[in-house]
Amino acid sequence: MIKAGIIGGSGYTGGELIRILLNHPQADIDFVFSTTRAGKKLTTAHPDLLGTTEMEFTGKVNSDVDVVFLCLGHGNSGRFLEEHQFSSDTKIVDLSNEFRLEGDSVFQGNQYIYGLPELKKSEIEKANFIANPGCFATAIQLALLPLAKAGKLSNDVHVNAVTGSTGAGVSPSATSHFSWRNNNISWYKPFTHQHLGEINESLHSLQKNSGELFFLPNRGNFTRGILATAYTKFDGSIEEAIALYEDFYADALFTQIAEEPINLKQVVNTNQCHIHLHKHNDTLLVTSAIDNLLKGASGQAVQNMNLMFGQEEGAGLNLKAGVF
Ligand SMILES: NC(=O)c1ccc[n+]([C@@H]2O[C@H](COP(=O)([O-])OP(=O)(O)OC[C@H]3O[C@@H](n4cnc5c(N)ncnc54)[C@H](OP(=O)(O)O)[C@@H]3O)[C@@H](O)[C@H]2O)c1
Repeated sequence: MIKAGIIGGSGYTGGELIRILLNHPQADIDFVFSTTRAGKKLTTAHPDLLGTTEMEFTGKVNSDVDVVFLCLGHGNSGRFLEEHQFSSDTKIVDLSNEFRLEGDSVFQGNQYIYGLPELKKSEIEKANFIANPGCFATAIQLALLPLAKAGKLSNDVHVNAVTGSTGAGVSPSATSHFSWRNNNISWYKPFTHQHLGEINESLHSLQKNSGELFFLPNRGNFTRGILATAYTKFDGSIEEAIALYEDFYADALFTQIAEEPINLKQVVNTNQCHIHLHKHNDTLLVTSAIDNLLKGASGQAVQNMNLMFGQEEGAGLNLKAGVF
């Protein structure tokens, strides 16, 4: 069994990791570290686990675990690793954006591999350190990578994506306050969202001179999931576009091409990304949908763990959507 440690266990992505790993056939949770809840039961932060686990949060790490998941807010992962030592055999999966960009990918002499299995599976299989992709970044890359691979992303690309409130983490804020968020919608960080860097690095790795990406993120009044629409000029037929995507994702366990238009609920609570293609005159519309906390965070982190440890890629990730 893989012995796992979780850091930042009372947050949203930490909580999802606990839920997945408690049911993983080849992994055991060794410890769940918390700065705020050491000595308290996991159920104090995650009451849905009542009846499932009696485990408590701890304020100490076990340096000999096989894998550590860092589920901390941006800027805290590096600090945590400087303050806590792990054995030279311990693999690390960081869920923050600290090591995702190529220029940031070496830390303490260790090379972090960008953990998007649809793009870097063979590198992930050999990796010991993973920078897990962002949630918007996952949805948008999966929508656009096949076009970049085919050299068909030469024109500007416009992306509009809407996320649930869990995307902003567990700490309440003005824009996650129920009275404001419910029955409401708004955009933020127009064309400047922090995930653009990692998206562009991946697209440029497949097509050097790809067109400019204009990304408008929106806050939705639901709790989880991301629905992204991307459109750009495409000179082929819809059949050619579909063939291109089906070919790119032929071996992808968790990315599917849907014949019918997609909606968010078909992927929420799963590790799936569903993609739909639509052609209007010379414009191709690509829609992608993921669960921000699963394929966009903790599910993908476990997928990466499975690949690093030579386990079945989907182990522990056979999850059930809540479609109604
Ligand atoms: N939410 C998403 O959809 C999503 C998707 C992809 C990636 N991410 C990334 O994943 C990371 C975690 O996100 P999240 O949504 O789980 O955040 P979160 O709900 O805010 O949880 C983060 C947890 O980190 C711990 N923490 C906070 N400040 C700390 C500090 N200074 N030192 C040590 N621990 C600290 C706290 O847990 P304790 O009190 O238990 O220590 C906190 O609950 C972030 O970097 C985020 O950008 C999030």
